[in-house]
Amino acid sequence: MSHNTIAINGRMDRFDGHDSVWLFGYGSLIFKADFPFLERRPAHIGGWTRRFWQGSHDHRGTETAPGRVVTLVPEDGAVCHGMAYLVTPEEFAHLDYREKNGYLRLATDIRFEDGSAAHGIVYIATHDNAAYLGPASEREIARQIAGARGPSGPNSEYLLALAEALRELGKFDPHVFEIERHLAEFRA
Ligand code: SIN
Repeated sequence: MSHNTIAINGRMDRFDGHDSVWLFGYGSLIFKADFPFLERRPAHIGGWTRRFWQGSHDHRGTETAPGRVVTLVPEDGAVCHGMAYLVTPEEFAHLDYREKNGYLRLATDIRFEDGSAAHGIVYIATHDNAAYLGPASEREIARQIAGARGPSGPNSEYLLALAEALRELGKFDPHVFEIERHLAEFRA
């Protein structure tokens, strides 16, 4: 699959006709909401784990020196915490552009802190996209992040902002916090 997913995402019609749609964010969509929203609520989705396994050529790295950003990997029983936004369908043109480097819109059940739930959309970069990098140790991921930078800024800024946002949500993510810990070694 090409790593530009705009055309594929544009054909997703699951929420056609809806006045508003819930979007679940688990990476930069937690700490960088550069789109208007009607409502924002901490939330989680089941069956997925957050991993720095997706390459970034367009935001936090370049074609020759990709950065690493998060995607979700299926895992039975796992819960991924993040932020849900209620948006109007027009926002998806901007979101599809922003998430074009391998991310596909998927329909998901989103659960809120008060126990209520809604159907919505999450952007996931699956292992068959061209920008996918896959597993590496947390130390190796930190080393790559420390050396990468793209049009949106240093890759380390993405990691640190995500770790901070998760702390603000009161959610412990061992993978993210372990990479953050290793980053200090490579920045010293
Ligand atoms: C997300 O934040 O939900 C998707 C991944 C990213 O844009 O960092």
